[in-house]
Amino acid sequence: MPEKIAVVTGAGGGMGRAICLKLVQDGLAVVGLDVSTERLEQTSASIGDGFHGMTVDLTDAAAVANAFATINAQHGGLDALVNNAGTCLMSDFPNIPARELDSQMAINFNSAFYCCQQAISLMMGRPGVRKIVNISSNGAYNFDAFDPPHYRASKAAMDTLTKDLARRYATEKIAVNSIAPAMTTTPLFDVLTDDVLQQAISAMPHGRAMEPSEIAGWVAFLISPAGDISSGNVIILNQGRDVR
Ligand SMILES: NC(=O)c1ccc[n+]([C@@H]2O[C@H](COP(=O)([O-])OP(=O)(O)OC[C@H]3O[C@@H](n4cnc5c(N)ncnc54)[C@H](O)[C@@H]3O)[C@@H](O)[C@H]2O)c1
Repeated sequence: MPEKIAVVTGAGGGMGRAICLKLVQDGLAVVGLDVSTERLEQTSASIGDGFHGMTVDLTDAAAVANAFATINAQHGGLDALVNNAGTCLMSDFPNIPARELDSQMAINFNSAFYCCQQAISLMMGRPGVRKIVNISSNGAYNFDAFDPPHYRASKAAMDTLTKDLARRYATEKIAVNSIAPAMTTTPLFDVLTDDVLQQAISAMPHGRAMEPSEIAGWVAFLISPAGDISSGNVIILNQGRDVR
């Protein structure tokens, strides 16, 4: 069987690195995209064969198009895309500068939109069910947690993109789902004060944050044949925290 090709964005970050590792372990060839060359090199060093890093600012539509053209030239198509790059900008309403709102949407939403635009044509006509997994956030749904509104909105927009593309490409056998995690131990925790972080972790039912490898397992499940029949779903991962 020919090797499957996956693109993972934010591959230099905590969750991205774990997702890349799991997909390589599952036998896929993984191209990791990130704005940070240094972080990509760390991911590459920790994974080894099967991972290729590519530095790209995903908020730049032309740069994204170039990156996917290179991926197509090198690999001849694409089977899976994980839109994981993102951040949480922490100014609170109403004191959010317009530039910060633009950045938040650009990093979390526009980047995923551009990658989907490029990925779909590379996925067309490939065998099997091809997959897009968007890394959303519980912040789009839980209004007790600290998340600022521009972060929540960027992830809600992403989840609507998930549903639109799931419907649009169902008969092409391109499955699109979101995974929306709660507190997961990554460098992104650095945006929080110690107080907010401890409060958020103590609200987790298991008494601990989740690990990037736990999220990666769910992403890999969706990308595996077992995930073929799920599309248009937003899968909430939070140890049952928000069940009422
Ligand atoms: N950690 C959590 O608790 C948590 C919870 C819910 C959702 N998420 C989501 O998970 C995803 C991964 O976050 P993480 O926790 O691993 O954070 P992280 O900061 O460790 O990783 C994010 C990565 O995205 C990259 N990135 C940022 N802007 C970029 C750009 N313009 N172009 C290319 N790459 C860019 C960064 O360089 C970084 O390597 C994010 O979308 C985040 O919103 C995280």
